[in-house]
Amino acid sequence: MYFSRKILMVSLLCIYASCNADAQRGGLSLDYYIETCPSVEEIVRSETERIMSIAPTLAAPLLRLHFHDCFVRVSSYDIGCDGSVLLNSTKNSKAEKDSPPNFTLRGYGSIERVKAAVEEKCPGVVSCADIVALVARDAVSILKGPYWKVPLGRRDGRISNASEALANIPAPTFNFTQLKASFAVKGLTSKDLVVLSGSHTIGTSHCSTIATRLYNFSGTGAPDPSMDPEYVARLKSRCRPTDNTTLVEMDPGSFRTFDLHYYENVGKRRGLFTSDSTLLSDGLAGSYVRRQGSLATAAEFFEDFSDSMVKLGSIGVLTGKEGEIRKRCDAVN
Ligand code: HEM
Repeated sequence: MYFSRKILMVSLLCIYASCNADAQRGGLSLDYYIETCPSVEEIVRSETERIMSIAPTLAAPLLRLHFHDCFVRVSSYDIGCDGSVLLNSTKNSKAEKDSPPNFTLRGYGSIERVKAAVEEKCPGVVSCADIVALVARDAVSILKGPYWKVPLGRRDGRISNASEALANIPAPTFNFTQLKASFAVKGLTSKDLVVLSGSHTIGTSHCSTIATRLYNFSGTGAPDPSMDPEYVARLKSRCRPTDNTTLVEMDPGSFRTFDLHYYENVGKRRGLFTSDSTLLSDGLAGSYVRRQGSLATAAEFFEDFSDSMVKLGSIGVLTGKEGEIRKRCDAVN
């Protein structure tokens, strides 16, 4: 009797503790701005809606910005989602945004616009890093994807270094082992990897990113043999070998809706990058891809995606008195 009551109490404590831990990951909390800027989420939401009503294709890059922000500065400095991706290069330092993996990033102006709207109401209070996290969530949910609560309280970093972006952002040519290692350094699992790769259900890629895969895979002068030949033919008809400007849809036919089609495509050997196709080479990730690709509803994926985004958004955050609250997002104060 005593034993079972003790087990019950321990279980209840664990449930409470894990909920609390989720809400307060890495020193962040859901009600961080309740006194200092209670309307921050409404302001960000309405600005993001306004931006997307004018330029709907910006949703995908805005999600990608958050990923690229969180993945840099981690391995050597234990810093992640600190708004460093938004800083401009200076006379003395080349910033992350001027590093090859970020040449195709967009949406900096939108973040600056949202920040200006927040500053108008709550000057000097809300970090750019938090704004990036909120905008990413809102962009996904506006495209009919999941909605998750974003723990807040990130502070902005003062350093942005191009070589760190190059060293930390995974390449589209990565195989599963490389991707898994790249995610593990940030405390993310293979499940987070396969779930977050589901982001490629929205957005576009430049032809130049896939040229080698289509025309000269591993120096063979032929396409990647693991790709569906029909899909290769369709991509080749859009992308000439030296094309640097044309865009292709990451999830053909539904690249503006956050849904399960990405998994359906990858399961049919229509992953756009090696990093997408390679998910099939791992037991756990492969079965996740096949399962989600066959489901009628996205409920499970949406829940998984929300959980993994909260984890992603908590990587190496600066809190308390660390860093600063930038006045504008592209320069330190
Ligand atoms: C697993 C490793 C990943 C690799 C190797 C990768 C690589 C890439 C590349 C190369 C592009 C296209 C760039 C271009 O040519 O324009 C892209 C686009 C995109 N990625 Fe990823 N990505 C990964 C994971 C993620 C994650 C974790 C997220 C979000 C949480 C994400 C979100 C996106 C989005 C939304 C786009 C479309 C961007 C647009 O429309 O401009 N990716 N990714």
